Amino acid sequence: MKVEQNKNAAAPLITGVLVLAVSYAVLRYHVVGPVPWKDFPFFILNKGFSLAAFVLIACNFGFGPLRNIGVRVPESWLAARKAVGMTGFLLVLIHALMSFLLFKPAVYGNFFSQDGTLTLFAGLSMLTGVLAFVVLWAYNLSFQTFLREDKAFISLITSRRFLLVAFILGGAHLLFMGYEGWMKPGRWHGGLPPISLVAFAVFAMAYIVNLFGRE
Ligand code: HEM
Repeated sequence: MKVEQNKNAAAPLITGVLVLAVSYAVLRYHVVGPVPWKDFPFFILNKGFSLAAFVLIACNFGFGPLRNIGVRVPESWLAARKAVGMTGFLLVLIHALMSFLLFKPAVYGNFFSQDGTLTLFAGLSMLTGVLAFVVLWAYNLSFQTFLREDKAFISLITSRRFLLVAFILGGAHLLFMGYEGWMKPGRWHGGLPPISLVAFAVFAMAYIVNLFGRE
């Protein structure tokens, strides 16, 4: 008798989120915005990857709590959580490496003061980005079998409070970086909200779902 396999929607979910996130970055910055196409392979792709990473991590954290508050989440999506979260984490790693290479006043003028040092909010944004990255790294470590034996460590890392801390740091990274631009819709390219704001909206939804739905 053929055993029914639990279908896993990881591939279509990851592909769909990546295509949508990169397309949004291309539309906002190249098609309706002023960024030249030569910047696609690094500057713009970094934006697309960081948005996709954020959405995939929100899916990883959010699908379970979403089901707990009564929303019908397909089994194939629930089964995809591990692969989706791991891909999100790898995309964050790519985003961090790309951002390190790009990090100059000529690219991110808004982040630097006249004397070439970081502004207060750029410093806070980078601090919270680095901390969010480290917390996500710790969360990923919890899947390593040699650490699974350490019950206290695993229950701390997979606890609701720890996940919410990772979320809040990610949200703070976006808020410190983008809030000034969010307040000026008249300057949004083609009227489209900045990627940091789109990601922040995803953060806010995932945070609320986690607050009510995580057991
Ligand atoms: C070592 C850690 C990190 C560094 C150095 C870093 C650096 C940066 C930089 C420089 C930007 C501005 C990009 C731009 O406007 O083109 C940015 C934006 C962004 N980052 Fe990070 N980041 C880090 C961690 C994270 C983490 C952990 C996440 C997600 C969980 C994340 C998600 C985002 C998102 C969604 C944006 C918005 C992109 C945009 O508005 O263009 N970052 N980050």
